[in-house]
Amino acid sequence: MNRETLNKIIRNRKTIYPAKFSNKEIPNNVINEILENAIHAPTHRMTQPWFFKVYKGKSKDILCEIIQNIDKEIYSVIKINKFIEKVKSSDTIISVCMTKDENNRVPEWEEIAAVSMAVQNMWLSCYVHNIGSYWSTPALKDEYAKHSGLNNNQKSLGFFFMGSYEHTETSKVRERLESKVKWV
Ligand SMILES: Cc1cc2nc3c(=O)[nH]c(=O)nc-3n(C[C@H](O)[C@H](O)[C@H](O)COP(=O)(O)O)c2cc1C
Repeated sequence: MNRETLNKIIRNRKTIYPAKFSNKEIPNNVINEILENAIHAPTHRMTQPWFFKVYKGKSKDILCEIIQNIDKEIYSVIKINKFIEKVKSSDTIISVCMTKDENNRVPEWEEIAAVSMAVQNMWLSCYVHNIGSYWSTPALKDEYAKHSGLNNNQKSLGFFFMGSYEHTETSKVRERLESKVKWV
């Protein structure tokens, strides 16, 4: 195991917005590998609260239709159109969902934390595959949840947009470690 490689992957992972994606197709086996890495995230009491819907190719139209049907009095046409533009610029959109444990064995925040760790696994995996990606959590995700067949026990935690992108090494905005750590 090479620690320098791991450091590079973690430190160079970046948010890449759909406008920068190229139209080179991401193969399905790569998407599956990324999702396999997602479900290897840790989870308290093994509730494994993640659930993903993959929109790719023709099924991107289904996602656009769901979003387009959202009540325009709740979310502005501008926001809806911007979302649809991002869908069109992406190869694949993974709808990030959470299924709450039916027996409430763990607090909800722990379920959200577990799904977030799964998203980080996807994000890091995208980096090594030269896939640009970004996690979007628009307010309209709750309306999406209602109209996309999620049940009462499920929540939308947003959308993970993916598209081909040649990563280059660039600096990232971060406050200094010293300001975030206190050795006691
Ligand atoms: C939980 C979560 C939700 C996010 N939601 C949005 C979002 O709705 N819109 C957006 O532009 N970026 C969103 N982001 C991406 C952040 O803006 C981005 O990660 C941050 O600017 C740091 O940049 P980096 O990913 O390149 O390190 C989200 C990130 C996280 C972790």
